[in-house]
Amino acid sequence: MERPEKLIIVIFGASGDLASRKLIPAIFSLKQQKMLPEKFAILGVGRTKFTEEDFRKKMKEAIVSFSEEKVTEMGLVDSFSEELYYLSMDNSLLEDYFVLNKTIEEIDNKYGIGGNYIFYMATPPSMYEPIAVNLAKTGLADQTKGFRRIIIEKPFGYDLISGRNLNSRLHEIIQEDQIYRIDHYLGKETVQNLLVTRFANGMFEPLWNRNYIDRIEITSAESIGVEERGGYYDSSGALRDMVQNHLLQMVGLTAMEPPSSLDADAIRNEVLKVFQSLQPIREEEVSKYVIRGQYTGSLVRGICVPGYRHEKDVDIRSRTETYVAIKFYINNWRWGGVPFYIRTGKRLPTRVTEIVIHFKETPHHLFRRETGKISSNQLIIRIQPDEGILFKFDMKEPGAGFNVKNVNMDFHYSDLADIRIPSAYERLLQDVMLGDSTLFSRDDEVETAWKFLEPIQKAWASNPDVKIFGYPAGTWGPEHADDLFERDGINWRFPCKNLTDDGNYCEL
Ligand code: BG6
Repeated sequence: MERPEKLIIVIFGASGDLASRKLIPAIFSLKQQKMLPEKFAILGVGRTKFTEEDFRKKMKEAIVSFSEEKVTEMGLVDSFSEELYYLSMDNSLLEDYFVLNKTIEEIDNKYGIGGNYIFYMATPPSMYEPIAVNLAKTGLADQTKGFRRIIIEKPFGYDLISGRNLNSRLHEIIQEDQIYRIDHYLGKETVQNLLVTRFANGMFEPLWNRNYIDRIEITSAESIGVEERGGYYDSSGALRDMVQNHLLQMVGLTAMEPPSSLDADAIRNEVLKVFQSLQPIREEEVSKYVIRGQYTGSLVRGICVPGYRHEKDVDIRSRTETYVAIKFYINNWRWGGVPFYIRTGKRLPTRVTEIVIHFKETPHHLFRRETGKISSNQLIIRIQPDEGILFKFDMKEPGAGFNVKNVNMDFHYSDLADIRIPSAYERLLQDVMLGDSTLFSRDDEVETAWKFLEPIQKAWASNPDVKIFGYPAGTWGPEHADDLFERDGINWRFPCKNLTDDGNYCEL
């Protein structure tokens, strides 16, 4: 594996949760695997008045608590912490950036870095623009001495106009190829495996179109509620929080044409084309194609859980959706007429993300099924948990006659015992260090995704008649989401914790 060039990572918002829970443990894991540059340092920046020692201590604790694998080598944690520095400053004050510039220069000279810097904005989105402006004003975004890359976290705006404005303001200061927009789903090994499954195996691609596929279903369910994030979530909702980014990216990779190469833009151009081909849902059709829901209080496995409106920092009359299901079409030759069903929600029965490809039935039904129901082949790509792939097909039941039974053929990543699945942040941070932007959202993808969602946002905002359905916490969302399927006998798959099981009565 290629090792990145020497560099410094500057983390804005370093005293916050993202840095402790995700970023520092992910960078430490890269250190464990000897994937960091030989000359490397991290500068944490935040308002909190930490001393360097306080910061190092906090980050060491974070590594022990939040690393995905148990940390046993404390010596390595200690030597890693010596590469951590801290500067307390106000992100909105230009004069503080002169101090920042000087601090970076000192660290650069100490390690002999030579001017390569990555700036990670682990801050509220309202700070992205002021930070970028101040970096530019103090010369820190200028690439004459080394590369300067900026990582931003979603949300990239909250609708089409604000998304466009954010992009154009950033472009006034820095180039698009300096911006890395993180969608952590793209960092998931199993999401990337979609490309390999489709384009490394000759057998899938000929079937991957409207002639053989009946419908595609994508579910991203969570069993947790909004936890401590009520303040953010109440002004966001599932459409902005999950659909605009994670779910549409999965649609893009499932539906895209084969790219001409593995070049970042070759792949992102194909995803963009999918987004551009999404059949717009008109404002007046929103109730027909989009179902939104909000969880209500319930007893989940013996524990009383509050309804969304009673969560901390949530408005008691809130109409923010914690569940959304959408049916839509992709208008192109490959997918014309094939419905896509996507759904996501909080406080559903289990945590699972998967893509289900439902193939068409055989044109003539020769055999008797044990249940009397016609089944059809399904390919299930499990993103998490029990990561893997499952193929469902019919087999003859042993014995007299031709009775047919639906059986499973499955592959689980866990069977590759010697291979560890890196965390999404680990993979994405490593890619930024290497300057590979394949797994990051590009400006036009972000804007086109917002454009598709705009009529839904408008209908919900302006029309109180568009209903929001309650669903008891711990259930699969509002029953009305079943109405998106117009044919009898077709419904959502009920995924279980284990890839191979499904149905209403499985282990959750
Ligand atoms: C984040 C959302 O982007 O993704 C959260 O803001 C959500 O609301 C999370 O919980 C889900 O990520 P994962 O990796 O746990 O599926």
